[in-house]
Amino acid sequence: MNPKARQSDSLPAPGADALAQSEALTQLIRERIAAAGGWLPFDRYMDLALYAPGLGYYSGGAMKFGRRAEDGSDFVTAPELSPLFAKTLARPVEQALRESGTRRVMEFGAGTGKLAAGLLTALAELDVEIESYEIVDLSGELRDRQRATLMAQAPTLAAKVEWIDALPDAFEGVVIGNEVLDAMPVRLVVRKLGAWHERGVVAEGEGFAFADRPVAVDAQIEQIDAAIDETNDEPFAEYVTETHEAALAFTKTVCTMLVRGAAFFIDYGFPRREFYHAQRAGGTLMCHYRHRAHADPFLYPGLQDITAHVEFTGIAEAGVETGADLLGFTSQARFLMNAGVTDVLSDIDPSDVKRFLPAANAVQKLLSEAEMGELFKVIAFSRGISGTVDAFMSGDRSHTL
Ligand SMILES: C[S@@+](CC[C@H](N)C(=O)[O-])C[C@H]1O[C@@H](n2cnc3c(N)ncnc32)[C@H](O)[C@@H]1O
Repeated sequence: MNPKARQSDSLPAPGADALAQSEALTQLIRERIAAAGGWLPFDRYMDLALYAPGLGYYSGGAMKFGRRAEDGSDFVTAPELSPLFAKTLARPVEQALRESGTRRVMEFGAGTGKLAAGLLTALAELDVEIESYEIVDLSGELRDRQRATLMAQAPTLAAKVEWIDALPDAFEGVVIGNEVLDAMPVRLVVRKLGAWHERGVVAEGEGFAFADRPVAVDAQIEQIDAAIDETNDEPFAEYVTETHEAALAFTKTVCTMLVRGAAFFIDYGFPRREFYHAQRAGGTLMCHYRHRAHADPFLYPGLQDITAHVEFTGIAEAGVETGADLLGFTSQARFLMNAGVTDVLSDIDPSDVKRFLPAANAVQKLLSEAEMGELFKVIAFSRGISGTVDAFMSGDRSHTL
């Protein structure tokens, strides 16, 4: 990618306040670059762009989630798309709680709070009495939004919700995280004619540019190097990809904390063999601004989301390394079908066209191979559950990891 090829011309311009926030963040990152000697690893840049207190995309005031660009939002996630997502996810969550004999739920990165409200409601409908629903989010700004959603959509259950700043050493219950792993900072690495470099960030003009430096080949890069060659027949003049230290460390932390119960993570990505396919020789870094996906992480820092696809084999290894069991791995479509999404949809009267049609359309988006059904996967770990949950009963792809 040519870092100078800005795509701002074709994207809607932010308002004056938002621009001022972005400029303040740009200034902060430039100071960090200078303090680091002129070059910052990309994961440090991404961390600041998303999470710098008060200024980052998730920690500042950006609208983020929503259905349309006109709302000022940037992307839509499954719980935002349809309440049927939470209602369906409640079934495997209920089963994991029952089979592990636990009654607590912990959600990472709870967005607008819709998944929390939907899960609490659906679990109550399934006669599960939850002891607590803990939310962990790096974004303090989202807490107010989550509280408002919970008060509006699940007022009698909202008292179960607690926001926690530090993880307990031990947790018994069910952990969930939708699109959390993809929001964790990644390093960028580039293989150029066989030699590995790390792609970092330097100040340029008023903004930033990429700059590559030779990098020592550690075990992780060695593994990527081998995976690229095993996956593809053709050689590449240049192959750009990411390393996922933060997501791997997070998975280890969660699976270590989980002494009984299960942890479900839903996100887009691939097992290692597919991840390093030629189609992704330019890497999987993607930015979302007003419902347009593009590849320039230096556009409006703090006002757009920056993500990378999840490499699920690495996530599975990180979890299993802690002694947790791999409960299952499959596509979102298969998981939701197994969990009974069509039964959940059929609870809506089809003659009630105004309710049924949008619900059916949303389910189609969640399941369709061309939309979220195949790119999105569900991986889950467990301790103290024998066998698996029904949602992984058919079409489990753990063997592909
Ligand atoms: C793409 S959003 C997804 C939000 C929501 N789950 C949804 O599906 O609409 C990613 C969220 O993950 C949160 N996040 C990222 N890293 C996290 C971490 N280590 N612990 C807790 N939350 C995290 C971000 O603050 C953000 O709210």
